[in-house]
Amino acid sequence: MTDLGDDQSFVKFDRVQKSYDGENLVVKDLNLAMPQGEFLTMLGPSGSGKTTCLMMLAGFETATHGEILLDGKPINNIPPHKRGIGMVFQNYALFPHMTVAENLAFPLEVRKLGKSEREAKVKRALDMVQMGDFGGRRPAQLSGGQQQRVALARALVFEPELVLMDEPLGALDKQLREHMQFEITRLAHELGITTVYVTHDQTEALTMSDRVAVFEDGRIQQLAAPDTLYEEPDNSFVAQFIGENNTLEGIVTELKGPDLCTVKLDGGEIIEAKPVNVSAVGDRTRVSIRPERVEMSMDRLQEGAHTLKAEVLEFIYMGDIFRTRLRVAGNEEFVVKTRNAPDQPRLTPGTQIEIGWLPEDCRALDA
Ligand SMILES: Nc1ncnc2c1ncn2[C@@H]1O[C@H](COP(=O)(O)OP(=O)(O)O)[C@@H](O)[C@H]1O
Ligand SMILES: [Mg+2]
Repeated sequence: MTDLGDDQSFVKFDRVQKSYDGENLVVKDLNLAMPQGEFLTMLGPSGSGKTTCLMMLAGFETATHGEILLDGKPINNIPPHKRGIGMVFQNYALFPHMTVAENLAFPLEVRKLGKSEREAKVKRALDMVQMGDFGGRRPAQLSGGQQQRVALARALVFEPELVLMDEPLGALDKQLREHMQFEITRLAHELGITTVYVTHDQTEALTMSDRVAVFEDGRIQQLAAPDTLYEEPDNSFVAQFIGENNTLEGIVTELKGPDLCTVKLDGGEIIEAKPVNVSAVGDRTRVSIRPERVEMSMDRLQEGAHTLKAEVLEFIYMGDIFRTRLRVAGNEEFVVKTRNAPDQPRLTPGTQIEIGWLPEDCRALDA
């Protein structure tokens, strides 16, 4: 009996490494386990190894070390057409000489389905993406958004258990992209498909996914649900990469317990923070505070919260929210976001104010 470990996992990367040139690792010790039906996004900057991971999972690249398991079985032992993996890419990769319906029928022919069954499945898949009337057209006669829908339908037509998508919406305009984000997650959940989605767009990752794996330089920096990733980043890279973030640098001067430490900022100010990625007094740290967790009205602040002096540098009216840029402890890019509400001040540049936050919203991370 092989060791299945934790596992109900449907997809598993077990200590996977990848080098293309036998020298540099572009994927370094990747561990990842996904349950069936999960929508997981690999998010990270360009070159961080996302596509390589997807290609290894699809079987187009082989891992240099480690193993990838699909439903408990090493993927190397499963021939490509039996892997039941659907794929969608940014450039659609539709066959230009075939009609939409022929494009969709192709993966079914490869799987030796009969004509009537093929036709029924093609119709169903096209209806699913609202392209039922376009079966007779060729890809060149469709808009980019329509082509992307067809590519999606073609990936789903043979009812794969696993779908891999690599930046599938990158070429679409904003409105269509947001619509397709919604369509893709709806379909994936309705059909119970396990999905690995790749993007460098953090908003896309946060809004679509059950969990997000944040990649940097061939490693997963954090793997968590969107709200955890945003509210509880494990390290400075994740805090900077996901959402907007204010950073103040300093030195840990006291560890008061698992949830509280004191930091002396480089400008001399003392603040309290939650120790997340610091271990000892004397450690250098970057404390990270989200712009919407900073209060500029002292009466909104809980008793005992630390306050700091700030100078207003810029006030930007954005309709639904206000963005106020401040100088705080030497940082001139300190941003506070407030909801456009009657009791929120519209501050003039040059105004001296006091700001504050709760220590638990202020995370002491690695420097
Ligand atoms: N076929 C290949 N041959 C050699 N190097 C490659 C190949 N594909 C990707 N790389 C390199 O591997 C690294 C990771 O690339 P990739 O997986 O495409 O990252 P991402 O999808 O996150 O942008 C990059 O440095 C890239 O240049
Ligand atoms: Mg890529």
